[in-house]
Amino acid sequence: MNPRSIGVFDSGLGGLTAVRQLRRLMPSENIIYFGDTARVPYGNRSRETLLQYARQDLRFLSSFDLKAVVIACGTISTNCLEALREESDIPVTGVVEPAVERAAALTRSGRVGLVATRASVASGAYERAFRAADPALEVHALACPLFVPLVEEGRCRPGDTVIETVAREYLTPLAEAGVDTLVLGCTHYPLLSEVIGGVMGPAVSLVDVGAEAARSCRDLLVRQDALTDGGEGSARFYTSDRAMNFQRLASLFLEDGAPGPVEQVDISQY
Ligand code: DGL
Repeated sequence: MNPRSIGVFDSGLGGLTAVRQLRRLMPSENIIYFGDTARVPYGNRSRETLLQYARQDLRFLSSFDLKAVVIACGTISTNCLEALREESDIPVTGVVEPAVERAAALTRSGRVGLVATRASVASGAYERAFRAADPALEVHALACPLFVPLVEEGRCRPGDTVIETVAREYLTPLAEAGVDTLVLGCTHYPLLSEVIGGVMGPAVSLVDVGAEAARSCRDLLVRQDALTDGGEGSARFYTSDRAMNFQRLASLFLEDGAPGPVEQVDISQY
């Protein structure tokens, strides 16, 4: 029995796709979520700025009694994971390694694709992890900077001509390169699964980084014998911008209704 919470953070709403999976895998756990909606998107920023934001996000979460932190943001995971791990007493899970592990296990052709933010692709972190997992893999990495703002606007459904046009434009070269597995390397992208799947075709497996990070967090808690047993877990949500805007879109990401109370915090104080 361990009633301490799992802390989760992202630049905005995308990390809620990881929360959805954490709740599915570990319904008894308490979750504290922080979405930095005042400063989203992170994906085009420099490493220095990302490190500053990530440290503040983690300091805010560390004001709660936590047993683990999930960085539910590809951009922070690719650029800041090592630094945050060194600086934190709480075990920190990122999205890169769990997703790469899954993709390396899934691919049959040895040709894998990665779509992510510009900062994630520029960091080379996914490629390094793929090389470590299997040096023979052919990795096709692609930055898709328009995906996050469109998702944050709720423009993510099949039939929406804007997102469908953007997705086709970005992804056609990847489809033509013949990848059979595609890592959705940003936690916003699972909301685009249908649109992305529509361009890539049904034979391509899509890897949801939030789901893989949630699985990795559960494995960590099992190893540490730190799972909460029994009871229904709770979730508390914090944002750095207006709570109302967050609430409006959060149900889309969580899939099981509105998140409940959301509080605004002044992240510059951390
Ligand atoms: N959801 C984030 C990620 O996984 C960040 C997107 C952004 O803020 O640009 O990369």
